[in-house]
Formats: sequence, structure tokens, C-alpha cells
Amino acid sequence: MRRQYDGIREEVLGAIARVCDSQSFILGPEVEALEREIAALTGAAGAVGCASGTEALWLALVAAGVKPGDSVITTAFSFFASASAIVRTGATPVFVDVDPGTLNLDAALVAQLLRDRQFRRQRIENLRAILPVHLYGQCADMDAFNRTVKEDAREYAQEFGVAIVEDAAQAIGAEWSGRGAGSLGVTAAFSFYPTKNLSAYGDAGIVTTTRPEMAEHMRRLRNHGSPRRYYHDEFGWNGRMDAIQAAVLRVKLTHIADWNRSRQQHAATYDRLFAGAGLTSSQTSNQSGAPVRLLSRSPQAKHVFHQYVIRVQRRDDLRKFLADRKIGSEIYYPLPLHLQPVFSYLGLKAGDLPVAEQAAQEVLALPMFPELTEAEIKLVVESIADFYS
Ligand SMILES: Cc1ncc(COP(=O)(O)O)c(C=O)c1O
Repeated sequence: MRRQYDGIREEVLGAIARVCDSQSFILGPEVEALEREIAALTGAAGAVGCASGTEALWLALVAAGVKPGDSVITTAFSFFASASAIVRTGATPVFVDVDPGTLNLDAALVAQLLRDRQFRRQRIENLRAILPVHLYGQCADMDAFNRTVKEDAREYAQEFGVAIVEDAAQAIGAEWSGRGAGSLGVTAAFSFYPTKNLSAYGDAGIVTTTRPEMAEHMRRLRNHGSPRRYYHDEFGWNGRMDAIQAAVLRVKLTHIADWNRSRQQHAATYDRLFAGAGLTSSQTSNQSGAPVRLLSRSPQAKHVFHQYVIRVQRRDDLRKFLADRKIGSEIYYPLPLHLQPVFSYLGLKAGDLPVAEQAAQEVLALPMFPELTEAEIKLVVESIADFYS
């Protein structure tokens, strides 16, 4: 964050001064301009700036029609907000396991859950939406989810109109088959948390939609469900975006394509150095005995590497070894959502979603940001080689 700030300091401070001079601090022209720019970047019909990615998820779900008593299918391997936003609408999350290659929500398992009467022990109550997460900056298999809504979920879709809502919090600028994350479902949520690829100087988020009428609905919902001041048609909330955050984001938006490209180059450098050091063999196989496994990359995906994640044995010892050499790393995520104590009411237990559970034991995110140098990447890979030698 410090290196990025050093590069854009004058631009950012100028933008913040512009907002202070305007004395317009909440929503207003900066937020409206950002909304137009994000809609253009993602290819969505509209965008609505809001207070955080979590708020964006709630808006995305409510606009898509999710309400108390409904169910929403989502991944067990994500940040907590992917599921807590479902609960906040009054609906119930239905956790499904992830694809062992990408760790994104497994589209084949979702299809099976909806299609196979043997497999599903009981009918899912009022299925209203499927919420894939574009984990680490790589889109989930959106073709498969769209097919599932049309085919496997047909009986639900006729009754409820099952929507695909994207959790694109980690995926600004990502694409699937040439289409931008944020334009692949009915609605989509982005986070601008300070460590995200496009990040605010505080909390902020945005929700995009392919349906203009949903954009209008979300505009009301983020402002107390109010179509005009002091008149309220439905319950909304204060979920508005600050103008200062929008102004900072607009500065950074002019750099995001370059920054995402740098992340992709760094990922390629990691891949090359890991292979060169003999630490990886094939992308996903764990038969080879190589100590480091990379996640798979879908050919349809333009991956923006919010995180560069490897899977390793003795992960926690490796993490400590790297920390001793002052190399930061992080675990996204150490406990899958279905095993979080707060979700015990769903009745799932250890062993129910084995791929997510295994991933939680093995994943490690390595340093990844645009300003990273090749020498630093070398140091990380050499240190990992030292650990396993
Ligand atoms: C996948 C995912 N969903 C939702 C969120 C929530 O975003 P925020 O922290 O801006 O509320 C985040 C980020 O923290 C995230 O990574």
C-alpha cells in the first residue's frame, strides 16, 4: 500500500482536496462519476456505489429478489461476508463444495444438487439465487452456472426465477470468456477494501447489475429505501458511499489496467521460478510428490490475481519459516464457512465438504501486489525451496 501511495500521492491528495473544496461529502457527483466509470469497465448496465463490499452483497441479493425464507447456494470456501450477507436478507445459505483445481464453487456439484433427487436429501426451500465467488481474482465457471439455472434448476427457476449473483469482491477487471466480472450475473458485488486490487482509503464497495431497474432499486435501498427525501416505500439502510472514497477510487481506476497486468506478470514469474526450482510439477496433480501445487487457471478466465495462492504440505511451518525471513503470507481461509460456529444451525459437520476442508489446511497466499519486484519474488521462491530442501 505504501509503495502504491508513493506513486500516486499528488493525484490522490488533489482529488481529496477537490471533495473538501466542494463540501459535498456523501454520494453526489464524485460517486455518480465513479458509478459510470465502473459500469463501463465491467460492461454492466449500471453501478451503485455503497459503503462496503458486504453492503454491496446485501444490495445485490435483495435486488435479485432474495427475501426471508429463501435459500441461496454459495461456496463454503470464501470470506465470511459471502454467507453473512445471505443471512442478513433473511435467507438461508446452502453451502456447496469447491472445485479441487480452482477452489471456486463447484458448478458440477451445484448441478447435481439440483438435478439428482437421490443426491439431495430434501428439496431446497425456495431456492432464489446462486452466489458464486470469483475467488482470488479468477471468475467461477459462469457458463456452467448459467446452464444450471436454465436446465438443472428449471423447476425452481419457473417457481422462483433463480438469479445468479456474483461475489466479485476480489475480481475487479477480471473476465470470463471476454466479458467483465460484474456483467456475468443479474447483480454483482465489489469490495474496495484497502488491500483490494482497486482500493479506497477506508471502507467502500459497489454493486453492478445488468438490469437498469435493479440499479434504481439498489439506489433506494442504500438510502433507507427512500425514493425521495423523508418518504419511505420499503426498508433500506444507510449504505451510502463517501465522496472522498469515490474521488480516491477514480484516481486509482486510471491505473487499474496496468496494475492488474503487473499482477499477472508477477504470477507468471512465480510460476516460472517454482517450476525452475523443481518445486512444482503439473498444475494440479498431487500424485507427483512436488511440495508446491498451483491452482488451476480456467482457459476462459482473465485472472487478475488478487491473491497468488499455492497449496503446500506443512503449511503452518512454512508460514512461520517465511515470517522469520520477514516474508509476509496469509491464509485465505483457515476454516470453511460450513464449520464456522455461527453456522452450526445448518447442521453440517467436518467431512461434509471435503475439498474445502482440505484446501483450508493447505492454502497459502504469497506476496502479490503490482509494485512487487522480480528480486523479491525470487527471494520468496528461494526461501520456499530452502524450507523443503
Ligand atoms: C470474497 C469477498 N466477499 C466479500 C467481501 C466483503 O467486502 P468488504 O470487506 O468491503 O465489506 C470481501 C472482502 O473483504 C471478500 O473478499
